[in-house]
Amino acid sequence: MDSLLIKGGVPLHGEVAISGAKNAVLPIMAATLLTAEPCSIRGVPNLSDVRFMGQILTWLGAQVRFDGDTIRVHAKKIKGAGDYDLIRKMRGSICIMGPLLGRLKTATVSLPGGCVIGARPINLHLKGFQALGAKVVIESGYARASAKRLVGSAMFLGGRAGSTVLGTANVMMAAALAEGVTLIESAACEPEVVDLANFLNAMGARITGAGSPTVTITGVKALHGADHEVIPDRIEAATYAIAAAVTNGEVTLRGARAEHMHAVLDKLTSSGVKVERRGTGLTVRRNGRLKPVDITTLPYSGFPTDAQAQMMALMTLTPGISIITERIFESRFMHVSELARLGADIEIEGPSAIVKGGKPLSGAPVMASDLRASAALIIAGLAARGTTRVNRVYHIDRGYENIDGKLRRLGARIERVEET
Ligand code: EPZ
Repeated sequence: MDSLLIKGGVPLHGEVAISGAKNAVLPIMAATLLTAEPCSIRGVPNLSDVRFMGQILTWLGAQVRFDGDTIRVHAKKIKGAGDYDLIRKMRGSICIMGPLLGRLKTATVSLPGGCVIGARPINLHLKGFQALGAKVVIESGYARASAKRLVGSAMFLGGRAGSTVLGTANVMMAAALAEGVTLIESAACEPEVVDLANFLNAMGARITGAGSPTVTITGVKALHGADHEVIPDRIEAATYAIAAAVTNGEVTLRGARAEHMHAVLDKLTSSGVKVERRGTGLTVRRNGRLKPVDITTLPYSGFPTDAQAQMMALMTLTPGISIITERIFESRFMHVSELARLGADIEIEGPSAIVKGGKPLSGAPVMASDLRASAALIIAGLAARGTTRVNRVYHIDRGYENIDGKLRRLGARIERVEET
């Protein structure tokens, strides 16, 4: 297992290429199960989660070929069951259920179980399938959905924390091959949902309203193969933007799309960071003294929960009090105690963390607990005096392509070492 060793205090400078979006690629790879014809997906990041989804598609019977940053999938003949050992390793794989149900009218997948950031049930996914006429049974750790025919209908998919991203994706994919019209109310509006809808429409689906809370899917008899380029990763871009601000550097995010990042860029600007659109990207640099800002995570287009930890790292270095409230996941503050090991002053009060910022951080060994928490620890390490050792970086490799290589090219003193 690897660790990352970071010697802090170097302002980041230069340009970084933003990779394709992990959270767009995973459901798009699953959507290839909806057709017996070949599909190709371009601009795919080299991540363990992506390779893992490739294994799951292969396990289901599809031919999968990685060719540089292109994936070719041919799901000519497939089976309708997702194995426990595979699914439990990556929650995102739950999004094979919709395509399997849509194409085969039966899907059996292992229930993903909880995760460090929250309980993460799939009740809304199953509610959507039932609204399409599927019979759903939960038994021995598996969810089985089956139907003689799927019939389009209107449904409300809002839950405890508002809309569900993969729930919307799953139901959209099942409804694409249902009879008649499906209307999803309180649909997730994330750019990754729009990217999936664009891919499905390229396969011959009839989806309108993606990106708004009301999505309409007119079912078709069959879907054909398609080629698609995925959108850039707005969370990876936000992470490098915050790293530039934390180190008092200047970084150009090549390929980042400002129109997908309004909430993050708005908070960065309020905290005293200068953001400029330049060519096909964004340039981010600190603009004098940082100012504390309050953050509340919300479904898109609100502030993304996937950038909450990274923003907290920035606020630990910002003189003054900032309040960070997590409204999407119940326990997404695992990074707080590790940031405290670097000297940060943070108190948790229910769903909020009160950050008393401004004290310099000092390097220490810290433990990554999940993908975005590990990004926050790396960002804090880039600013801390001395050396920070981030252990269990397999978490970071799930969602960031070659993060240490990209940071080194920006001047960071970071190296990957065997964990001791
Ligand atoms: C997606 O997860 C992302 N994952 C997550 O990114 C991201 O944090 C999340 O959306 C929110 O933006 C992928 O796209 C692979 P949700 P998803 O269903 O779809 C509750 C990362 O770091 N809920 O939108 O699983 C749920 O518990 C990852 O890249 C139900 O109650 O999230 C949560 O509180 C982490 N019932 C809230 O809704 C359901 O059936 C939002 O979850 C489904 C969800």
